[in-house]
Amino acid sequence: MQHLLKLGDLTPTEIEEILNLADQLKYEQKHGIEHHYLKGKTLGMIFQKSSTRTRVSFETGMFHLGGQALFLSSRDLQIGRGEPVEDTARVLSRYLDGIMIRTFEQSEVEALAEYGSIPIINGLTDYCHPCQVLADLMTIREYKGSLAGLKMTFIGDGNNMANSLIVGAVKCGMEMAVACPDNYKPDAEICKWAAENGKFTCCDDIELCVKDADVVVTDVWASMGQEDEKAEREKAFKNFQINEQFMSLAKPDAMVLHCLPAHRGEEITAETFEKHAAEIFDEAENRLHAQKAVLVLTMGDKK
Ligand code: CP
Ligand code: NVA
Repeated sequence: MQHLLKLGDLTPTEIEEILNLADQLKYEQKHGIEHHYLKGKTLGMIFQKSSTRTRVSFETGMFHLGGQALFLSSRDLQIGRGEPVEDTARVLSRYLDGIMIRTFEQSEVEALAEYGSIPIINGLTDYCHPCQVLADLMTIREYKGSLAGLKMTFIGDGNNMANSLIVGAVKCGMEMAVACPDNYKPDAEICKWAAENGKFTCCDDIELCVKDADVVVTDVWASMGQEDEKAEREKAFKNFQINEQFMSLAKPDAMVLHCLPAHRGEEITAETFEKHAAEIFDEAENRLHAQKAVLVLTMGDKK
């Protein structure tokens, strides 16, 4: 695997390979077995947006693998003062062995990969969040044993998370239903692809979407960069919430996932969040293991 720019670039076999290695690395970490697959290597982590999980899990992951990570805030880099990403890519490729970037435009991540000569990993853009969804798929597999044939329902904004969940679920043979308001649908091309390649529904009928779901997922109503739209979004998403009423329509053993941070009383009630806290925090932990697998498969010699 050369880069991780978006899940759409991966084959189902590559996704399975990442999940298998993630499971193995998790098991080995729990049993005190260390693998310095990235000994002496440096990952640069460019952040144009805030982060708790992504920053800490990548940094810790690099340490576990025998390498180091550099936190590069766009506030301090020349990129924040207008140095082109094309130049940043060519310069950083001379120092680093890989770059993880969290930014707004997907095109910026693609440009880093085009102009740089080292692996690029997408740590979230407005378009997608592939690392999070690899951890989500890993968590579902841990709880349910396998992925194919399960039904995933996403309730909320058709945002970066929805886009990656659709692609990840369909590639793994899951049925995918997205319940969102009409004006907040996921990316149109992703929806078209999903309808052609899997069992896919996208509509504003929450009850229909959540019926018999095995996994119910949500995300914030206003993503990073959309702070100004908070009030209008609160109105539009008022009913698009994971709560006990909707969970009663899902399968009795349905799990709930949330990439975090969560806003209790908005996209999920405090009651449902706490009922499913074990799953949600396993999901957060699995960011570390899934990303270690991505780091090894992109930056390591184990390709
Ligand atoms: N889920 C996620 O990406 O969290 P952070 O924004 O804290 O990295
Ligand atoms: N959709 C959210 C995800 C945060 C991890 C955002 O982009 O802010």
